[in-house]
Amino acid sequence: MIFWFSGTGNSQWVAQQLAATLNDTLVDIAQATLGQQHKFTLKPGESIGFVFPVHSWGPPPLVCKFAQALQLDTYTSSTHCYMVATCGDDTGLTVEILQKSLGSIKLNAAFSVQMPNTYVCLPGFDVDDYATEGQKLMAAKSRVEKVATSIAERRNVIDVVRGSMPWAKSRIIRPLFVAGGMNDRNFRCDASTCTHCGKCAQQCPLRNITLNAQGTPQWQGNCTMCLRCLHKCPARAINYGTATVKKGRYYFKDKK
Ligand SMILES: Cc1cc2nc3c(=O)[nH]c(=O)nc-3n(C[C@H](O)[C@H](O)[C@H](O)COP(=O)(O)O)c2cc1C
Repeated sequence: MIFWFSGTGNSQWVAQQLAATLNDTLVDIAQATLGQQHKFTLKPGESIGFVFPVHSWGPPPLVCKFAQALQLDTYTSSTHCYMVATCGDDTGLTVEILQKSLGSIKLNAAFSVQMPNTYVCLPGFDVDDYATEGQKLMAAKSRVEKVATSIAERRNVIDVVRGSMPWAKSRIIRPLFVAGGMNDRNFRCDASTCTHCGKCAQQCPLRNITLNAQGTPQWQGNCTMCLRCLHKCPARAINYGTATVKKGRYYFKDKK
């Protein structure tokens, strides 16, 4: 059983590749959260995986909360449990943070897959240039195959790029970011550019966007900062304050 969350499609693609290769089933963490579904039954010998993007050198808070609430009827100490984190650069202490949220469910393996960057809300952060994006996507294909082989063989391995100063990133910067920068208060929609297509509301994984009488988006305060609304707006009408006006946009398009 593979529990997955994705903002802009990178982690969804990884989860789908793994499910196809390992002949496993997928559970969408956002949908399960909205449906308050936290109890799952594993088949005999079934492994469990968590696939998600790194958000500020840790799992998205939504994933941590889901992991904390997770109840697996048939979990035993021999159940193989792994995580795969997609990231623009590095993971910091993502493994340790997820392990803490999982409590008695023990991670046996952890992998990171570098993919195109989606974080654009602070100065100095932008999407990758076209060449880098292409190189990362190309490398990700073979990386995911290698990860799938390792999972199929149930290897106990921690194979993640923690990056430099992981402790400072995950234990100092991350808490500040989670407290102050992971909310929807700064999202803006330019009403003169918005085409009122409603895709932002339809596609928000947490159903956090409603449309007002004019058909422009209103954020409702239950946001996990996945940035899907910003990156997928076909009119580029959605911004995070003014910080993203000149930044690029990205979402995963499977070129096969
Ligand atoms: C709010 C936010 C925070 C992020 N923080 C990190 C980070 O700490 N390290 C990193 O390498 N990438 C970071 N990224 C980039 C994503 O982890 C990366 O682009 C990921 O593949 C996106 O996956 P998705 O398309 O499934 O959402 C961040 C992205 C967002 C939206």
